[in-house]
Amino acid sequence: MSPARPPASRPLASRPLAAILFLVGLSLAACGKSEAPDGDDSEATEAPAALLTDVQKAALLADMPEPYRSADLAKGEALYAMCRSCHTYVKGGGNMTGPNLWGTVGAKAAYSAGFKYSEELKASGLTWDLATLDKWIENPRGLVEGTKMSYIGMKKPEDRVALIAWLKVNTSPAN
Ligand code: HEC
Repeated sequence: MSPARPPASRPLASRPLAAILFLVGLSLAACGKSEAPDGDDSEATEAPAALLTDVQKAALLADMPEPYRSADLAKGEALYAMCRSCHTYVKGGGNMTGPNLWGTVGAKAAYSAGFKYSEELKASGLTWDLATLDKWIENPRGLVEGTKMSYIGMKKPEDRVALIAWLKVNTSPAN
C-alpha cells in the first residue's frame, strides 16, 4: 500500500527534529540554571546574610513565647506594609525616614548607627523586648512622648503579635 507510506513516514521524519528541539530546550534550561547562582552572588553582595532559610525562621519562631510562636507570619508580612515606607529591615539596609530595623527585637532603643534619633528616644532607656515593642507599635507617642516616629499605631493586639513575630524572624541572625 504505497499511498500510505508518505503519511506514515512523516511522523518518523519529524521525530528526530522533535528530539533535537527537546534537547536544545533542555540545554537552554540547564544554562539558565547554572547562570542564576552566579548572577545572584554578584548582585546580592549587600545583604546576603539576612536571608535565612525557612527552617531557620521556623526555629526562631519556635523559640518565642506564646502567642508569638503561633503567630501568622504571612499576616505579619502583610502588616509590615505599614512600616516599609519609612523602614528597611534587612541586614545592612539603609536608614530612611526611620532607622534600619535589622536586629530590633531585643536591642536597646536608638541602636542604628548613623540615624538621627529624637532626644526623647535616645533618653528613653528602653529595650525592644516583645512587650515594649507591642506598646510602641500600638501607640509610639504613648510610649515615648516626643518621638519622631509619626505612625498612628496598630490597634488590634493580634495584628501586633503577627507583625512582631514576623519582625523577629526576619530581622534576626539565625541561632
Ligand atoms: C512615617 C514614618 C514611619 C513609619 C510609618 C514607621 N516608623 Fe518606625 N520609626 C520612624 C522614625 C522616624 C523612628 C525614630 C524615632 C525617634 O527617633 O524618635 C522610628 C523608630 C522605630 C523603632 C525604634 C528603632 C530603634 O533604633 O530604636 C522601631 C522598632 C520602629 N520604628 C518600628 C516600626 C514599625 C514596626 C512600624 C510599622 C508598624 C513603623 N516603625 C512605622 C518612622 C516610622
